[in-house]
Amino acid sequence: MTNSDVVAFVLFGGSGDLAKRKLYPSLYLNFIKGLLPGDCKIFSVSRLSEEVQAFQAEIFLQLERYVSPSQFSDEKAKAFVKCIRHIQLDVTRDDAWETLETHLERFRHAPIVYYLSVAPRFFGDIAKGIASVSLNQNGARLVVEKPFGHDFESARALNKELRLFFDEHQIFRIDHYLGKESIQNILALRFSNNIFESQWHAGAIESVQITVAEKLGVGDRGDYYDNNGASKDMLQNHMMQLLSIVAMEPPFAFSPDAIRDEKVKLLRSLRPIDADSYSDSCVRGQYVSGQGEASYLEDVDKESSDCETYIAIKGYIDNRRWAGTPFYLRTGKRLAGGVGEIVINFKPSNPELIKSKDGLCSNNKLVINFQPDQDIFLFINKKDNQSESFSVDTARLQLSTKSGDLKQPYERLLGHVLAGDQTLFVRDDEIEVAWKWLDQLAASWEQGGSSPYPYKGFSQGPIEADKLFVESNGWEPIK
Ligand code: BG6
Repeated sequence: MTNSDVVAFVLFGGSGDLAKRKLYPSLYLNFIKGLLPGDCKIFSVSRLSEEVQAFQAEIFLQLERYVSPSQFSDEKAKAFVKCIRHIQLDVTRDDAWETLETHLERFRHAPIVYYLSVAPRFFGDIAKGIASVSLNQNGARLVVEKPFGHDFESARALNKELRLFFDEHQIFRIDHYLGKESIQNILALRFSNNIFESQWHAGAIESVQITVAEKLGVGDRGDYYDNNGASKDMLQNHMMQLLSIVAMEPPFAFSPDAIRDEKVKLLRSLRPIDADSYSDSCVRGQYVSGQGEASYLEDVDKESSDCETYIAIKGYIDNRRWAGTPFYLRTGKRLAGGVGEIVINFKPSNPELIKSKDGLCSNNKLVINFQPDQDIFLFINKKDNQSESFSVDTARLQLSTKSGDLKQPYERLLGHVLAGDQTLFVRDDEIEVAWKWLDQLAASWEQGGSSPYPYKGFSQGPIEADKLFVESNGWEPIK
């Protein structure tokens, strides 16, 4: 990564929860590693009036709380908070932009990062306001959080609106899954190991499973969640990103656009789930009470809701590499475990010739756990050395090695923003094609009038999801 020449980091929503829990701590980690230039100023923008020293002291406490003890230093945290300034500004007022200009005037000749940690309805106005005082130039970058639109049309309109004021190469759309260490590792695993790369296709792979399960319910985000559900909250963004990284073609170069071109191509070849294929391809669920915890309806305080807290799909990718290989994706809240996992199931090899003691020979399997632990396991068969006859048993090889503090997603993503590297950010066409696919899926379930199936809190999800399987192995258990 190149050294950053960013002179000011402007954080809209700088007094908010995300900023305090994730963004300041991540900026601090970049600061101590020398990735945030020492003379860079951090402007927290919010409607609140904050006395700057009190605000700096508060951020110091947040750093103490959220940065791991091995990376926290009193002295460095003090130096970091000294870079923080506060701008009181109401982005809905016309005079806001002159205020911003006054504060940023002396920085305008070098790159400024604008991070919008605010409700998406403000994105357009903020981009316009910044441009109205010509502060969108000289390498300025605009970082936006999800949700980015609520369907294809709204995402496209938002893209158009932002591009009126910032070029695409200046816009960094965050999907924090792209900042996870193990997700990046998939690219390394796939493209630097011939043993995997040569077998990464329908000829050798029977099926792929991608799971993101959470034990938590919707908590206090009921209002947002009930309008979105697992499909918009997780499937359209994080799950689609995981899928595209697992299944994309090798990029011609390790550059932001070469990688994103391949991800877009992959998403374009994801077969739409239409009303005819819906019942064989998608199952939605909603948690009811389990282990004494409230049901979803109690959590959102409603009599009824068609919002899904679980969604599972069986998808097919219509390209030469993946012809006929099912991709099983599932995500949900209040499930038996909190786990993020990708499982590559290989096809059997000589099942008639060599067997295990019980007559079965397991298929090779590559398991990539990305949370809570970051582990990679390869299951291979070997001769069973305790058996009188020639038979095999399965060994689980751990391919991951533990190292010190791994970068957290926001630390890595902010580091990339500072360096002006868009590899880990979602491009305009990528977000639109993912929405288009999801819109079709949503239209299919609406057409069929299907409601989510109930599933018990802390269970494996609705049993109806088992029917998606075409082979015998079924879902990996959520633990
Ligand atoms: C967010 C969703 O984008 O991702 C949340 O809005 C979800 O509902 C979260 O809990 C999961 O992120 P992670 O990193 O904890 O898997």
